[in-house]
Amino acid sequence: MTGQPDVQTVPPLLEVSGVSYSYKPSLPPVMEGIDLSIRSGEFFVLLGPSGCGKTTILNQVAGFEKPTTGTISLKGEKITGPAPDRAVVFQGHESLLGWLTVRQNVEFPLKVAGVGTGERRARAQKVLELVELAPQADKFPHELSGGMKQRVQIARGLVTDSRMILMDEPFGALDAQTRGTLQAELSDIWERERRTVLFITHDIAEAVILADRVGVMSSGPRAYLHSIVPIDLPRPRRRTAEFNEYIDLLEATVSAAKARRPLETGTVAA
Ligand SMILES: Nc1ncnc2c1ncn2[C@@H]1O[C@H](COP(=O)(O)OP(=O)(O)O)[C@@H](O)[C@H]1O
Ligand SMILES: [Mg+2]
Repeated sequence: MTGQPDVQTVPPLLEVSGVSYSYKPSLPPVMEGIDLSIRSGEFFVLLGPSGCGKTTILNQVAGFEKPTTGTISLKGEKITGPAPDRAVVFQGHESLLGWLTVRQNVEFPLKVAGVGTGERRARAQKVLELVELAPQADKFPHELSGGMKQRVQIARGLVTDSRMILMDEPFGALDAQTRGTLQAELSDIWERERRTVLFITHDIAEAVILADRVGVMSSGPRAYLHSIVPIDLPRPRRRTAEFNEYIDLLEATVSAAKARRPLETGTVAA
């Protein structure tokens, strides 16, 4: 049905199973009964209204928080905390280290992992070229534009050989033009690297540009995974009639998910 590898033949890399999460026992769970499989090499976008629990899910996959019930496993092993197999790219720039240059920021995760100086330098250089930041390598974060800072974050996510890259609305704070450029670049990098990505957004067009599959969350509390929509379009993705059909489908799906009701036209199933 889709032009992608057969879902049945590729074993899942990440498995979220029966997950619910409450910040406090006195509060209703943010989400409930979340089941989700992401396969190796897949670009999975989690889309949902603000406040539905997207960041809360990402934090659990990252290992910053533990599910209240249910389990999350990576390659069959339960996630119990953060580990280098999952790199996290945050929305803001506050995680860039202001006293380090761009190059040193990108090398930082390798340094933490104990990688030697020569290899660190070579790997950082390669990803700096990939995100087109090589000319800025010796600048400090405060000398960069918002888009460039976000590229440093992406470079830092790519520099280790982590199996998964977790991205929480990484382009949310950028102007529309810069966002468009970085979306195209990220899609291009992903095609070359085939890293497994969990990407969070509330922007429907961003989901259609980037995703192999889009998971649509309902509104919360007790948010659930409303539907999964495969995006079967060639990359790089252009605003064709088919692209716009996916936008329409996702708009209808998101509005049904917000209202916590099934999609009436029946084109997708959860
Ligand atoms: N530390 C916290 N304590 C209590 N409630 C929280 C906390 N962080 C987030 N929430 C609540 O959990 C819900 C989901 O938040 P979040 O995962 O940040 O949503 P999203 O990323 O989809 O916008 C929201 O209602 C939010 O107010
Ligand atoms: Mg969030």
